Amino acid sequence: MNSPAMQGLRLNTPPYVKHARLIAWVADMAALCQPDQVVWCDGSQEEYDRLCQALVDAGTFLPLNPAKRPGSFLARTDPSDVARVEDRTFICSERQEDAGPTNNWMAPTEMRNILQTGEQALFKGCMRGRTMYVVPFSMGPLGSHIAHIGIELTDSPYVVVSQKLMTRMGKAVFDVLGNDGAFVPCMHSVGAPLAEGEKDQTNWPCNPTTKYIVHYPETREIWSYGSGYGGNALLGKKCFALRIASTMGRDQGWLAEHMLILGVTNPEGRKYHVAAAFPSACGKTNFSMLVPPEAAFAGWKVTTIGDDIAWIKPHADGRMYAINPEAGYFGVAPGTNLHTNPNCMRSLDRDVIFTNVALTDDGDVWWEGMEKDSGVLPEHLIDWQGKDWTPQIARETGAKAAHPNSRFTVAATNNPALDPQWDDAEGVPIDAFIFGGRRSTTVPLVTEARNWTEGVYMAATMGSETTAAAFGAQGVVRRDPFAMLPFCGYNMSDYFQHWLDTGARLQAQGHALPRIYCVNWFRKDADGKFVWPGYGDNMRVLKWMIDRIEGQAQGQDTLFGVAPTYGEINWTGLDFSPAQFQQVTSIDHSAWEAEFKLHDTHFEQLAYHLPPALSQTKDALEKRLAETV
Ligand code: OXD
Ligand code: MN
Repeated sequence: MNSPAMQGLRLNTPPYVKHARLIAWVADMAALCQPDQVVWCDGSQEEYDRLCQALVDAGTFLPLNPAKRPGSFLARTDPSDVARVEDRTFICSERQEDAGPTNNWMAPTEMRNILQTGEQALFKGCMRGRTMYVVPFSMGPLGSHIAHIGIELTDSPYVVVSQKLMTRMGKAVFDVLGNDGAFVPCMHSVGAPLAEGEKDQTNWPCNPTTKYIVHYPETREIWSYGSGYGGNALLGKKCFALRIASTMGRDQGWLAEHMLILGVTNPEGRKYHVAAAFPSACGKTNFSMLVPPEAAFAGWKVTTIGDDIAWIKPHADGRMYAINPEAGYFGVAPGTNLHTNPNCMRSLDRDVIFTNVALTDDGDVWWEGMEKDSGVLPEHLIDWQGKDWTPQIARETGAKAAHPNSRFTVAATNNPALDPQWDDAEGVPIDAFIFGGRRSTTVPLVTEARNWTEGVYMAATMGSETTAAAFGAQGVVRRDPFAMLPFCGYNMSDYFQHWLDTGARLQAQGHALPRIYCVNWFRKDADGKFVWPGYGDNMRVLKWMIDRIEGQAQGQDTLFGVAPTYGEINWTGLDFSPAQFQQVTSIDHSAWEAEFKLHDTHFEQLAYHLPPALSQTKDALEKRLAETV
């Protein structure tokens, strides 16, 4: 016991943990947070089952009907705790300019005063009446040279069981860590201490008024307070695998990206790997599990390596190898059905934690979009807030049965389309990067960048109409460079430079770089209807990309890169006319004039350290546009 606050509290360190620095840190944090007990998690099934049962007993989990959804639970959060809180997310680098204009910043000493050291510091005694769990996890295959280890201390058993599904979590991590291995310390508290003998007043403890999601990039630490929601609380995901890892990648010469990774294999057995960035809730999970339309693509296979995050390292052979640092999916439920994502629906058959979806009268789950499978709306449900829901209530009040950002948490091994290399410690070599936003106008269906710099420009200027994955107004176009706006742990312009440098380094060594594509599945017609069918039909675009890589499609040069001709897309089984193709691929002169003005504003905001190569690319594109009048 190394402090008075620890007196009487046993650390319970298991004999297999030999890492003195880690043990000392856990002791310090227990002294700070003053939990009732400390429990080291081993990641076993027995532990998972025990904690799920405890969550059921506490009223946080509702067990679903085992005949319908075996091994599955429903959690309903506090209505104030349903999404990532970007305005409460901070990058506390020593210098403000290193966080850049797109991140909230506070000086580390000031933030530490609020969280740890000040008289009223939030973490002081924040776990009173609760258990502190020590959760060891590996982001990436255990022992992979691309993987890294984190230790999360949390007072939320919901976080522990979710981490078991989302990461390689448990005892084996300590073997990799040894006596002195590096780990990212991840502090998490729901921020709801209990008085002596007090019981939780709620099924979802959190702090409805005070939340902080804090990153210290220089010391590679994460401190999260007040929220139990996934992206704020499962600290391996956005906080570590993107915000902290992006700074590690900058320093060490690799990339941490908000990208799915998929494998696509043609009937001859040739396999390509694609990493694709889309903003939150724009269909990354759907694209990563895509089922090619049978009539046009017999013998083709798409397999999932990851659905949200990629860590990518240049290799000695000159290629970029990617791993999925995660081991599970924390996906948006509404809109998921047998048409949009059949592999996902099958992944959700069993052993799932659902959060904020609706409950059916026979103990199963439901969300908006499932009526497309059954053809009817359920007559009665309990909505995500525990209230009655009927189609009539929905019509009269607009009430959604499931929260628009309701989620499923499930192990990747449930996915019938899981790629055999998904857990390969070496990763998979990337052939193409895809960047896409949700734009109802302006941006064409698909174009290929003419060179690496143009591709970085396309990604750096990406825009998307906002969704429910984060708090704030929905449906407004915001620039979301590389789909990393809420996730880049350092100055965005330095991040652009890092991408340019990574490409230039490989090119200088004589290596060919992955192609870069810009896509937009979301163009609408005059009636506001999506023109492109999307989902499985996105395979038609993916196939064109592969044809380009194989030198089989010539494409046509356009303002914004090389685009397919109508005849280069395989249309078998889809009725899509040249006029419709024109609607999704046209480049409207005045829309692009306006678009470049918005790029100007975006670049003005990012002026500090903005790579000159990007301004030059913009000038060249604008000149090109002017010449087409
Ligand atoms: C996510 C997100 O949860 O991007 O993946 O919001
Ligand atoms: Mn995401």
